[in-house]
Amino acid sequence: MDIPQVIYKTEALIAEDIDAYLEAHQHKSMLRFITCGSVDDGKSTLIGRLLYDSQMIFEDQLEALEADSKKVGTQGQEIDFALLVDGLAAEREQGITIDVAYRFFATEKRKFIVADTPGHEQYTRNMVTGASTADLAVILIDARLGILTQTRRHSYLANLIGIKNIVLAVNKMDLAGYDQGIFDQIVSDYSAFADEIGIESFVAIPISGLAGDNITNRSDNMPWYDGPTLVQHLEDVEVSVTANQSKPFRMPVQWVNRPNLDFRGFSGQISAGIVKPGDAIRVLPSGKTSRIRKIVTMDGNLDQAVAGQSVTLTFDEEIDCSRGDVIVTADDPPQVADQFESTIVWMDEDELLPGRSYWMKIGTQMVSASIQSPKYQININNLAQLATKTLNLNDIGVAELSTDRPIVFESYTDSRDLGGYILIDKMTNRTVAAGTLHFALRRSQNVHWQDVDIDRAAHAQQKGQAPKIVWFTGLSGSGKSTIANMVEKRLFALGKHSFLLDGDNVRHGLNKDLGFTDADRVENIRRIGEVAKLMTDAGLIVLTAFISPFRAERDLVRSMVGPDEFVEIFVDTPLAVAEERDVKGLYKKARAGELKNFTGIDSDYEVPKNPEMRIDTTNLSPEEAAELIVDTIVGSWSYTI
Ligand code: ADX
Repeated sequence: MDIPQVIYKTEALIAEDIDAYLEAHQHKSMLRFITCGSVDDGKSTLIGRLLYDSQMIFEDQLEALEADSKKVGTQGQEIDFALLVDGLAAEREQGITIDVAYRFFATEKRKFIVADTPGHEQYTRNMVTGASTADLAVILIDARLGILTQTRRHSYLANLIGIKNIVLAVNKMDLAGYDQGIFDQIVSDYSAFADEIGIESFVAIPISGLAGDNITNRSDNMPWYDGPTLVQHLEDVEVSVTANQSKPFRMPVQWVNRPNLDFRGFSGQISAGIVKPGDAIRVLPSGKTSRIRKIVTMDGNLDQAVAGQSVTLTFDEEIDCSRGDVIVTADDPPQVADQFESTIVWMDEDELLPGRSYWMKIGTQMVSASIQSPKYQININNLAQLATKTLNLNDIGVAELSTDRPIVFESYTDSRDLGGYILIDKMTNRTVAAGTLHFALRRSQNVHWQDVDIDRAAHAQQKGQAPKIVWFTGLSGSGKSTIANMVEKRLFALGKHSFLLDGDNVRHGLNKDLGFTDADRVENIRRIGEVAKLMTDAGLIVLTAFISPFRAERDLVRSMVGPDEFVEIFVDTPLAVAEERDVKGLYKKARAGELKNFTGIDSDYEVPKNPEMRIDTTNLSPEEAAELIVDTIVGSWSYTI
């Protein structure tokens, strides 16, 4: 069967040359929408019908077909509707695990991009991806089956992602005898559910994708329905860019434009509102104010610019403003905060590790963020709230989140740009989650770092030393504690003020609530890092002896102190050697299956890539190692020690 392939190629062509394709239709507005429902609900048929009925796509497809005519040798009209639908379904199946299939078509009035995502629960992340840029969701229902679990799930997700326009497409009306009673019942059932989850309004349309009823043309089979056809509605619905124009002005800064010393402009896409020369603006998070001097574009200066436009703004009075800042109207600014309540959709195979630091991208802002243990997870099939400690692939939960510095934000219901974010794993660079901010926690505004008179420098000076964190890492039984202990004795003898934090000891007190799951280890190291940092504020040389198996947390602690203040010492003892020594008999237990999650056996240890020192314990005795470490670190601190 050649057809699916041909359609695929055509779309590839449009995708490759989408700019040219779109430019031809630039005078029209664009609606991005998502279709939700499984193949059984007639999703492929509906999309096939939309493509089939819209001449535009067929002109394009025809060209591509001609280019490929050796294979098909046909005219567009000969493309059979059933084959087109089969082709879409086949392609969908092939691409199902990859991501989202975007299809383009246009009518006389508007251009459309439809995101076609698979319907099953294991593809929640695909749907979230497709929905994140959509203005409208078509929720398909099989008229004979009514509202199903997946209708609820898709509606919940569409609402969560902030899609304001919901279309309830009651499909297969031909198979339901075009019965008004059936349609009315479904609409009334859905209304009750929509109320429950906070969908404010929706438009219900009785259709048949297969027979073409109420898709492009009004159906004679349902004279009782007097609303718009699906395509009419898609053509007329207000898109968010237009809706955003009535909101207060916001523009996240993408880059600072400085071609020469006389020009300094701030470029970005206006996410909400209108801006004119002379307008009073504020740059957040700093809060500094100025006025707009000019709105510069490739096509000359503008008298005003609105949401959706990409522009460069210049200011009357020069103030600091850089990438990631947000330029806003002076009298109605959004909030700035560093702790939030948030809904999170987990999208990675590796589970959420509460306390771990991830990159958070929100608009053009990029910060480090960590998530606390979720308050609850949502069962998206019945909306029940379940207790949980983490989130796995496709899970949705609500949790508190904190960022390493204040960010400019709005609640997601007010702004998708300033309220929606993604999280990126710092090690793998994978996008691991998408989330929405609800509100700032009040404590984030009320807790201020206390300025104290006897500060870090004063403490250090009194002790006559430069504070450090000397971080030992390595397998259990590698010799960390033994060596750290000897290092401390030597430092003590040199008159240095130090303190040794040791794995087993800390786990008896401060961290006695933590076990050895990945999540608990992350939290273990996070707390130890914070304690160690406070101790360096007190001017101490802190020695720590923890397995600390993950690079991310070791790097987190490194980032908490100054560049020369973190000394990572990898106590490199091969697993076989540590196991052979087995000082505490734990390896034996782990091998016997009596101890779960044992590092090196059934839990990972990530070897340091660039430690300040590597100690090979198969070559050095603990005494020699301690001597080497003290010589090296004391030597390198000679300016104060
Ligand atoms: S860490 O991974 O969170 O850094 P930590 O250094 O605090 O671990 O604790 C490690 C010590 O706990 C080991 O030296 C060992 O005595 C003990 N222990 C008990 N269970 C385990 C386990 N499953 N994995 C590793 N160490 C364990």
